[in-house]
Amino acid sequence: MAIDPGDFRRALGQLATGVTVVTTRDAAGRPLGLTVSAFCSVSLEPPLVLVSIDDRSEAHDGFESSGLFAVSILAEGQEEYSRRFATGGPAKFEGAELLTSTTGLPLVPEALAHIECRVAATLPGGDHTIYLGEVLGLDVRPGRPLLYHAGAYRSLDPEPGPELGGGRRDRV
Ligand SMILES: Cc1cc2nc3c(=O)[nH]c(=O)nc-3n(C[C@H](O)[C@H](O)[C@H](O)COP(=O)(O)O)c2cc1C
Repeated sequence: MAIDPGDFRRALGQLATGVTVVTTRDAAGRPLGLTVSAFCSVSLEPPLVLVSIDDRSEAHDGFESSGLFAVSILAEGQEEYSRRFATGGPAKFEGAELLTSTTGLPLVPEALAHIECRVAATLPGGDHTIYLGEVLGLDVRPGRPLLYHAGAYRSLDPEPGPELGGGRRDRV
């Protein structure tokens, strides 16, 4: 069955996600990065995550040459970082307030978490490439996430109800 691209986008847009900025650097040390919602945890032991990156992105040079990437999970109120890193080209780094990770990659200050990774595997994913990352280091801070749903930025209900039952989660 042929899938209509508009239907595909609308259907997948119904999945509410967090928003991340994924960064890397090329062989000359030039920073590269983009806004990514296709980020998820894969394994706890060893700690693995994945990101899916459009094949048109310049960032592939960096994933390949440095073998490293960093993920900043954006907090509520950080839409400007999301918008900035959702534009093409190197200008997105001009004037951006960023931190530098221990592996020399740009990080978004005040993000809810920073996750530094080594590229452990590269998998073809249609017009995207999937990078499996082994987590080398991370830091986390409390706060509310920036969300994305149906093509718009959202935030959590300011008065969340009681936590759903179960609580403990042994698997990622
Ligand atoms: C909320 C949001 C989520 C996005 N998620 C992804 C993603 O998961 N993978 C991807 O390749 N591009 C994603 N994009 C699009 C890129 O951020 C955008 O195409 C960017 O301009 C790419 O920059 P580059 O071409 O300089 O690499 C997303 C954009 C937005 C606004």
